[in-house]
Amino acid sequence: MSADYDQLLDATITYFEQLKAQGTRYVPVLPETLAGLSRAAASLPQIRSQPGTPAPVTATSAKASAVLMDGVAVVPKLPPVFSPTLTLTSAAPLTPGTPLSLDAKTQAIAELRERAMVCVKCPNLVASRKNVVFGVGDISSQIMFVGEAPGAEEDEQGEPFIGAAGQLLTKIIQTMGLSRQTVYIANILKCRPDTPGQTFGNRKPTPDEMKTCVPYLHAQVDLIQPKVLVALGSTAIEGLLSKPAYITKIRGQWHTYRGIPLMPTFHPSYLLRTEALQDKRRVWEDMLQVMEKVGLPVSDKQRGYFLKG
Ligand code: URA
Repeated sequence: MSADYDQLLDATITYFEQLKAQGTRYVPVLPETLAGLSRAAASLPQIRSQPGTPAPVTATSAKASAVLMDGVAVVPKLPPVFSPTLTLTSAAPLTPGTPLSLDAKTQAIAELRERAMVCVKCPNLVASRKNVVFGVGDISSQIMFVGEAPGAEEDEQGEPFIGAAGQLLTKIIQTMGLSRQTVYIANILKCRPDTPGQTFGNRKPTPDEMKTCVPYLHAQVDLIQPKVLVALGSTAIEGLLSKPAYITKIRGQWHTYRGIPLMPTFHPSYLLRTEALQDKRRVWEDMLQVMEKVGLPVSDKQRGYFLKG
């Protein structure tokens, strides 16, 4: 490769390093630019494997992004879901401690949302959905609630947790002294699971649907960087931790998702179905733990709920 090319590459790397130092994590790239970069990237390993040259170029397909690693931009092949826009993201996972400017976060979330809105990876869900339900709330919130999948009302309105279970979740959030606007709410699946031949009712997402869709949630968590995650029900836990979970066994105990404390609790739709007051009290106890973890004040009144009667 020519000296000119090397010079251009070095200038590009320097530019990305500057952006990265300023907190930029995502850079939009046009499809045609990506095509050019992909052709050039094919020959990068030979360039960089010369003795005395900087760190090797490493490609990661996991995030379907061009990655800035050791100051070197590399371009993995993109699965169709991430077309037509591409983001550049830091190779280091974005943990709650990693600063991300509000502008960068807002832009990256908007791009992610755009991609989710046109996602066609599950043909059955694309055919049946009315809306893609991306997520709602404050992208700077300390607390992020994760549910299973949109139901009929959510599909209709494009907003998570607005049906009966959602209204109960909203009440729980308000009892914590918060509001839907001050937390973030999202689901494992962004589309409503289809129910062919049925006019009502919901179904659990299939393992394939979860595997396909959950990268959007992982990316949301990476960007929002909440202090605490609340997983509502087994499906939410399974999606986040990628392993089977029995909510009755694990609720109320802190888990960790990519370094973020994760509290599993019962799904509000279960609370609507059950007569067991003790399970409602358990969810509230889990929320008190969440409040304490993020440093929210807990009043005597809040602590005393469910203690009387
Ligand atoms: N149940 C969920 O898990 N998510 C919603 O958005 C609505 C109901």
